[in-house]
Amino acid sequence: TSVYKPNWWVLLGDMGAGKTSLVLRFVKGQFSEYQESTIGAAFFTQVLSLNEATVKFDIWDTAGQERYHSLAPMYYRGAAAAIVIYDITSMESFARAKKWVQQVQRHANPSLIMFLVANKADLGAERKVANEEGEEYAKENGLSFLETSAKTAQNVNELFYEIAKRLAKA
Ligand code: GTP
Repeated sequence: TSVYKPNWWVLLGDMGAGKTSLVLRFVKGQFSEYQESTIGAAFFTQVLSLNEATVKFDIWDTAGQERYHSLAPMYYRGAAAAIVIYDITSMESFARAKKWVQQVQRHANPSLIMFLVANKADLGAERKVANEEGEEYAKENGLSFLETSAKTAQNVNELFYEIAKRLAKA
């Protein structure tokens, strides 16, 4: 069977956390050390074939810069999934991620699937946010949690496939 429900996902997180890099790793299998900061938002579309269904979805990659934050509700309201990203080398980005989680939980649809994603896992030597801190915060707030690296591709397919699988079941 094919599932063609209107289906969009949103990526939120501090500037430089790696939102665009994660999407480009997933959609194009590419990574750039010099990824440019997103202006406004970027749009991607993707089709995944699972055993049980084909899931077609759009991804809104929002801009992390403060001046664009007022646009975010347009993308997370009605979203089927939200991926909130922080950079493990930045405690500030973790604090920013928590704010996004709270904001989305207050305003998004109740069936929304939310992942907290700790990106740049390849930069272990510069780590400021312990794996357990992210995991614990996720658990307390009913979110799923993954550590990823857009650079090495660690857990990137896993993240997007896991969301697609859950939506196919819903
Ligand atoms: P905004 O568009 O400003 O909100 O940023 P963003 O969250 O989309 O971050 P972006 O993907 O532009 O990445 C910012 C910088 O971090 C770039 O220089 C990337 O190359 C780098 N980067 C992203 N992901 C990773 C990662 O997993 N590991 C490493 N080492 N660098 C990464």
